[in-house]
Amino acid sequence: MDRVYFHGNNKSVEELKMALDYKVGRIMVDNLYELGLLNAIAAEAGQKAKIMLRLSPGVEAHTHEYIKTGQIDSKFGLTLENGMALSAVKRCLELDNIELKGFHCHIGSQIFELQSYAHAAEVMMSFVRSVHQEAGYLAQELNLGGGLGIYYFRDDQPRPVKEYADIMMVALKEKAREFGLPVPKVIVEPGRSISGPSGTTLYTIGAIKDIPGIRKYVSVDGGMGDNPRPALYQSRYEACLANRITEEDAETVSIAGKCCESGDMLIWDVELPEVQAGDILAVSSTGAYNYSMSMNYNRLPRPAMVLAANNKAELIIRREDYADLIRNDVLPERLDSSVVNLAK
Ligand SMILES: Cc1ncc(COP(=O)(O)O)c(C=O)c1O
Repeated sequence: MDRVYFHGNNKSVEELKMALDYKVGRIMVDNLYELGLLNAIAAEAGQKAKIMLRLSPGVEAHTHEYIKTGQIDSKFGLTLENGMALSAVKRCLELDNIELKGFHCHIGSQIFELQSYAHAAEVMMSFVRSVHQEAGYLAQELNLGGGLGIYYFRDDQPRPVKEYADIMMVALKEKAREFGLPVPKVIVEPGRSISGPSGTTLYTIGAIKDIPGIRKYVSVDGGMGDNPRPALYQSRYEACLANRITEEDAETVSIAGKCCESGDMLIWDVELPEVQAGDILAVSSTGAYNYSMSMNYNRLPRPAMVLAANNKAELIIRREDYADLIRNDVLPERLDSSVVNLAK
């Protein structure tokens, strides 16, 4: 557990207590409310909580670009620009049951513009210097978050991890040298780049509806329940027919999920061989933020997950059935008297 970094913008009292009980490595404090709460909980437990402060550094990275300033309007973290972050550091130093280890930032996801990491590293090192000058505190650790982009769709060009590490560390070391400060320990939090590319979702094709001159809808036995990303933020995916992989593309179709939402579309306009009911559609790059984001909307059971490598396959999550879906349902035996009173 000492290698766990516990995040969240609204951690509950129970979660914070659990984090202390299990001795997680770092609690990533997101806001001043949490700081006070954690200090009180740690005092009660007779512990000193090891924390990092999550900062909102004013670097907003998008897929192929980044914005240097702004982004103070975020639910995550303590804002650098308006002095909130510095006052949080000063507060940490006053609190008896808080041990401040350093600072964290996460500038976004699906980042291909690596200069944005260099910029984030510079901004964070500049903050380390300001805090050192103004509060006499020297941060030992910097956590620069995740965000390394993966291949989902044709314009995505993932960069090697080494390139990302080099750009970040060169910028950090240069700033440390310029400020005459030691280089802090650097931690990163790559998320989807670890597991995203290794996942493929297999759907069975069912109903096909051709609206001549308009569009061919091809429905599959899943959708936003197993992959909410297209509906949530218009994510784009590539797909092929796994059972007819060698056939030439013959038509453009759109892949519809089976939920009762017109927005439950997995892919708009994908080229495939002529599709038939029963074909297996393989959608790639679904190993991150798919099962973890999945849901039972429309009370649809979630699919199984299988680990496959070197001609071996192993079930790692079993398919849900209808009994799973009603496992937590409780049928009232009789109407509660207060409800009856309200009805009167
Ligand atoms: C604090 C933090 N760190 C790391 C990550 C991982 O991001 P990614 O999967 O884009 O690398 C996230 C994702 O939202 C995050 O919120």
